[in-house]
Amino acid sequence: MSEPFSAVEVIVRKRDRGELSDPEIDWVVDAYTRGVVADEQMSSLAMAILLNGMNRREIARWTAAMIASGERMDFGTLSRPTSDKHSTGGVGDKITLPLAPLVAACGVAVPQLSGRGLGHTGGTLDKLESIPGWRAALSNEEMFAQLESVGAVVCAAGDGLAPADKKLYALRDVTGTVEAIPLIASSIMSKKIAEGTGALVLDVKVGSGAFMKNVELARELAETMVGLGTDAGVHTVALLTDMDTPLGLTAGNAIEVEESVEVLAGGGPADVVELTLALAREMLAGAGRGDVDPADKLADGSAMDSWKAMVRAQDGDPDAVLPVAKESHVVTAPASGTLSRLDAMAVGMAAWRLGAGRSRKEDPVQAGAGVRWHARPGDQVTEGQPLMTLLTDEPDRFDRALEALEGGYDIEHGAEFEPTPLLIDRIG
Ligand code: URA
Repeated sequence: MSEPFSAVEVIVRKRDRGELSDPEIDWVVDAYTRGVVADEQMSSLAMAILLNGMNRREIARWTAAMIASGERMDFGTLSRPTSDKHSTGGVGDKITLPLAPLVAACGVAVPQLSGRGLGHTGGTLDKLESIPGWRAALSNEEMFAQLESVGAVVCAAGDGLAPADKKLYALRDVTGTVEAIPLIASSIMSKKIAEGTGALVLDVKVGSGAFMKNVELARELAETMVGLGTDAGVHTVALLTDMDTPLGLTAGNAIEVEESVEVLAGGGPADVVELTLALAREMLAGAGRGDVDPADKLADGSAMDSWKAMVRAQDGDPDAVLPVAKESHVVTAPASGTLSRLDAMAVGMAAWRLGAGRSRKEDPVQAGAGVRWHARPGDQVTEGQPLMTLLTDEPDRFDRALEALEGGYDIEHGAEFEPTPLLIDRIG
């Protein structure tokens, strides 16, 4: 078959700061998925996009072309509205676990197609897989049936959803082109739009443990994604939230499930509860159910009932004892004073090096590995008290984890502590 464009011409146009036409974008995404445009050509184009950007039309068309590369789900015949959440990834970010059943308990279905973790940020599926028996892979029919019966599904995205993104994301990962806002926005939104949710809330993380280290870049990414969702008919809003400090008191897999269950039981760390409720309120409002107060559903136990039903529906045992790491190492406070900083990136790297995360997508993760911290910024600590507990099955991992934590926290004496707000901004 003769091709209507040449990959080199398309690359050169973007290299020279030109605009790609709609037919060029449709073609290059499709031809790459078919294997006609080679990896080295697409990596060159991705670098040109990273350096020279794309306008709103180009990003929207690129997103549409990635959606068109695969199947598009449709939950229009469900008996309740749908709403989903996407986080750009952070440390200790277990929010999906309490959030999905909470929103389901409020009468809105949550169809979350999720991913595994890569690098220092954890993956929701890795966390859920620490529950004995729990199964991430569902057929479309199983997903639909569970949404109708339980109201919440968190499962692995099948190969049929935005295959162009799967191929392109793997290429970006090894060519230094992940950090391009047009490519991040179109990658995330192509999957969320293809997933078929009616409303979407984006949790765009800002800070040391996030993709976006400063608020200006995070706002640009959020505005781009909100624009893409809105143009595609998905009610989309974004919250910019802090990721200088890790969320809650745990980063890992089983230990994050445990903390999520505490939230569903009406307890848990205040910041995890605050963010869960803020995102739930946005998800409900987006689905036209802003009249329901999710705090009531945490308090009356119905969110916990939804969680158990959601885990059981995917063959997990919500009452099973979770895996525990074989080895632990306690880090004690080197001085007395106020814990004034706990760095999300340092904690995320330590959890990763302990075995909670993976370096290559085919690596296994340890269910029990991770970091528990016993104080949060603002807390008073006493010299010698436990500050963190490191957990792993392989004790030779402790040294590298301890290295990651060096310089990752400050204890100050007598200084005024200024708490940083968790919720930074709302876009949409
Ligand atoms: N997550 C995605 O799904 N895609 C990106 O490009 C970045 C983060």
